[in-house]
Order: sequence, then C-alpha cells, then structure tokens
Amino acid sequence: AIRRLFVGGNWKCNNTLAQTKDLVNNVLNKLHFDPSKVDVVVAPIFLHVPWVAEHIQKPVQVSVQNTSLTGTGAYTGEISVSHVKDLGLNWTILGHSERRQYYGETNEVVANKVKYAVENGLDVIACVGEHLAEREANQTNQVVEGQLEAIRGKLNEAQWEKIVIAYEPVWAIGTGKVATPAQAQEVHEFIRSYLTQKVSQNVSQKTRILYGGSVTEKNAGELIHQKDIDGFLVGGASLKPAFADIVAACN
Ligand code: G3H
Repeated sequence: AIRRLFVGGNWKCNNTLAQTKDLVNNVLNKLHFDPSKVDVVVAPIFLHVPWVAEHIQKPVQVSVQNTSLTGTGAYTGEISVSHVKDLGLNWTILGHSERRQYYGETNEVVANKVKYAVENGLDVIACVGEHLAEREANQTNQVVEGQLEAIRGKLNEAQWEKIVIAYEPVWAIGTGKVATPAQAQEVHEFIRSYLTQKVSQNVSQKTRILYGGSVTEKNAGELIHQKDIDGFLVGGASLKPAFADIVAACN
C-alpha cells in the first residue's frame, strides 16, 4: 500500500475501569503487528486515558474522543488540546456523528475544533458521513463534501499531514449494517477526488481515509482490499478480542 494503514478503536462511552484494564492486558497488549505497516490507535473515555497510556504496549497509540474548542482556563467541563499533549498523546477524534447528532456539533464547530487541534499539535481523526435519509435522497456526496469543505476552509495544505479522514455512514454505525465494499469504496473514491481537486494531488495521495460502521473481523478483510480504504475506525468490535483479528487483516 502507498499509505500506511490505520486501525482505530473508538471505545465510545463504554467500559468500567476494570473492563478497560482487561481489554488492555488481554487484547491490546497481546497484539502483534508491524507499526511501519499499520498505525493502531485506541480511544478510551477521558478518565481511563492516563491508565491506558501508561500500561499499553508502545506501538499502540492512544487517542481521545473529543477535544474542546478552547484552551486551558475558565471552561468548566471541557478538556483542552494542551491537556492531551501534556500526557504525551498525539491524537483526537473530532466530528464523530454522535457528537454531531447528540451534542449539536455543526460543520462549523467541528471545523473550528479541527483547526484548533491541528494548530496546537494534535493529529486528528476527522469523521464525516451521511444519514440514511440523505443516502436515500442521493445526497451522500453532497453531505460529505459539505463536511469536508468546512474543514478545508480552516486548514492550509501543510496541515493536512495531521488529518486522517474517517468515513462513517451513520446508518452503518452500531447497527450491524455494514456498507458493502463497493458502497464504501465509492464514497472513499469521491473523498479522494475531492482532495485532489480542492487541496492537492499530494494531499490526496497521502491522506488516509478510514471506513467506520459495523466493521468486524468478518468483513474487515474484504473492505481493506478496496483501493481507497486505508483502514478502519472500529466501535463495538474494538471492545472485544475481535479487534485483534481486524488489526491482523490490516497487517
Ligand atoms: O467510531 C466508530 C464508529 O462509530 C463505528 O461504530 O463499529 O460500533 O458500528 P461501530
């Protein structure tokens, strides 16, 4: 592959501390993979991040699931980019559909968060994707383009080096209804051609585009062979031993 693959585990708002420890000790710390071929990045809830960062084997990287729009200071309830950097961590997920849907994060908010995170030294897994009604109305490309366009407007070309895009059709998230390899490839190809036209050929060739939405050990192998799929953002299956098989499919 021309791009190093990427497997992200988004643990969402799950796990007791004991469950997180079990997952790290018995799944993540037993993974074997070549970090020159694949980035493996897991995102626990904030409160578990320090324990995970300290106890996880080195080649596995740790991400947070969100960062705030603001810096340190009088922002009750927020966690800033500099807190993430302070723990020696380099990744944040931004614009996940659950943030957009349940916490009112608009394209504009997401784009500003992406800009702030990148300017302050984090790498970003930026999520895009359409709802079922939008797909059924043939608006998938338009919706995804709008989400990307907001982000593009805030970044210069060099900053794209810090971006990984996750395409997650909302109808496939947590539903067991995975996009077919052809459906996913079609949107990934659209995203790559968007990058070619609106950013640059170089950025288009270098940017990893992940698929997310009901990825399991059963469908990962077929999906990863699609030309423009560079890895996955895994939810449910990242909480289980199946995650090891998904990483193996990419290694
Ligand atoms: O960030 C991960 C996605 O939302 C996918 O979640 O694998 O549980 O469908 P899922």
